Amino acid sequence: MSLKRRIVKSPWIGWLLFITTVIVVIIIAVFASSIIERRAEASFTFVPKVKYENWEPRNEVWGENFPKQYQSYIQSSEDDFRSKYNGSQMIDMLEIDPRLVVLWAGYGFSKDYNQGRGHYYAIEDIRNTLRTGAPVDGKSSPMPNTCWSCKSPDVPRLMGQSSPQDFYAGTWDTKGPEIVNAIGCADCHDAETMNLQISRPALIEAFERMGKDITKASHQEMRSLVCAQCHVEYYFDKRDGKQAYLTFPWDNGFTAEDMEEYYDDFEFYDWEHAISKAPMLKAQHPGWETFMTGIHAERGVSCADCHMPYKSEGGQKFTDHHLQSPLNNVEASCAVCHREKTLTLVKNVYDRQDKIIENRDKLEELLVRAHVEAGKAWELGATEDEMKAVLMDIRHAQWRWDYAAASHGASFHSPVEISRVIGTGITIAQEARIKLARLFADYGFNEELPYPDISTKAKAQAFIQLPVEKLEAEKQTFLIEVVPEWEKAAAAREASYPVKKLMD
Ligand code: HEC
Ligand code: HEC
Ligand code: HEC
Ligand code: HEC
Repeated sequence: MSLKRRIVKSPWIGWLLFITTVIVVIIIAVFASSIIERRAEASFTFVPKVKYENWEPRNEVWGENFPKQYQSYIQSSEDDFRSKYNGSQMIDMLEIDPRLVVLWAGYGFSKDYNQGRGHYYAIEDIRNTLRTGAPVDGKSSPMPNTCWSCKSPDVPRLMGQSSPQDFYAGTWDTKGPEIVNAIGCADCHDAETMNLQISRPALIEAFERMGKDITKASHQEMRSLVCAQCHVEYYFDKRDGKQAYLTFPWDNGFTAEDMEEYYDDFEFYDWEHAISKAPMLKAQHPGWETFMTGIHAERGVSCADCHMPYKSEGGQKFTDHHLQSPLNNVEASCAVCHREKTLTLVKNVYDRQDKIIENRDKLEELLVRAHVEAGKAWELGATEDEMKAVLMDIRHAQWRWDYAAASHGASFHSPVEISRVIGTGITIAQEARIKLARLFADYGFNEELPYPDISTKAKAQAFIQLPVEKLEAEKQTFLIEVVPEWEKAAAAREASYPVKKLMD
């Protein structure tokens, strides 16, 4: 009897054969997959090649143990991507928008302000900017050491040797030979465990003042908090004997109004405006604070989700350490959660940016006018008393503009809040101008003050009488004479750092 006929006669034989085959196939599949997994594990199991100290500042040394993360980090040296408003290219913002020169008259930013590049360039860019001055021939930099705080893993190394206050004290040039490695591994990781860690005391202290313990933050929160060490609003506190002590003004909260109130309470100002004489605030880059008011933060998305998506190479999944504009990597950055086409997502980003920038530009023009008109009021003989309310309005309106403009990415991270803040800025700037119009009337001046010709960066800098060519020449001398000495001293010091080879 053939098998076929037997099965027709007694169907259970067929079933038995079928089930046995299925079981055998499953068992073989399980074995095969486990063998493949074991092989993969064998080749991916972490075997450190070198042993170094927890404070090791050199990214290339950590890179020997973590080549994939290191190689992706090195890609932040690419500076050829440009989106509509951002990207990794060096963009001279004063050239693109000369109004900024007038808004910052009397302050370092009117000399030189470029759009941020990749972390790889943090040291090069702070040395190059005119804002740090040209400390040659015994001359000091106009900036304190605090300016190094967000640039390098040499910062936690030095703070560990003394104290945060010792670190901040002194002018920027005095730590030039010590700080040479660009933002990197030790800024975000503990070398022993590779866990994310907060290396900057200013963030820990700000949390303490808000009654929060940062060590209790969740893993997902840490994926944003590591960025909040630097991408935040800050000022240099000089009260109670402190020397340029890095402080985040969060005691009242994160909104533009909360921080404004914090600064107003002790009449803090970053500089006096060269034209209007208003006591100005410079918003730094409240990126984390503004992000926290947006929908992605509210849904629990972290900075790393978009700016450090997972990447696969040779079957190994790891975190992409090429921090950049997600618009250069939409498939990996957004498509994990969104099903729309890349072009649609890019359009969604541009739509939000375009609409916000439309009003931001209007606010800038109003601010330029208000500064120039306040300058005229002084000329006409207005008294300090008469000007007080005007200058406070200018201070508050420009703070709101800067809060919105300086928090890179905010018009996408939190479009609704940023539109609101710009709206309040426009109202306050108009109030300043109404007060000024009344003052003009009191002093018998009844003409429209012409808008200055600030159509290029050069014209705007000439308008505020800034000797840029001299500053640039001094900077070149500094870069040629001083920087190579800093590099030499650092190389000699680093040669003695303990790094033990564990295997080849
Ligand atoms: C939902 C995704 C997403 C999240 C989450 C996110 N970003 Fe962004 N970020 C973007 C997009 C999109 C842009 C706009 C890029 C452009 O215009 O090229 C941007 C822009 C930026 C920029 C300017 C980039 C440039 O090219 O100059 C910085 C800096 C930045 N984000 C930092 C952060 C920080 C810090 C956090 C967390 C506090 C964060 N981002 C969270 C998507 C995100
Ligand atoms: C700006 C902060 C930051 C810097 C700088 C940084 N990392 Fe990371 N790293 C992260 C984040 C965020 C993760 C994801 C951690 C998580 O979700 O557990 C990560 C994950 C890792 C992991 C775990 C495996 C993986 O790929 O997810 C390793 C290893 C690592 N980083 C190595 C490095 C090395 C080496 C450097 C220096 C070249 C470096 N990191 C610099 C933030 C940083
Ligand atoms: C130690 C301080 C520090 C930390 C920590 C840090 N950043 Fe930055 N970041 C900077 C500085 C400074 C720049 C500008 C560098 C330059 O222009 O030379 C920058 C630039 C950027 C840019 C612009 C890159 C480009 O191509 O235009 C993005 C995006 C960014 N950071 C995102 C993040 C995110 C996301 C995190 C957290 C995972 C983070 N950063 C953590 C200091 C830091
Ligand atoms: C980890 C998940 C996640 C990632 C990654 C992510 N998003 Fe989102 N996105 C969300 C969630 C959740 C919402 C809120 C929508 C909701 O809950 O219905 C949202 C909302 C949005 C919105 C509407 C926001 C508004 O203004 O109303 C836009 C636009 C958007 N995302 C674009 C992007 C882009 C562009 C990227 C990549 C740069 C990105 N998202 C990355 C989860 C994500």
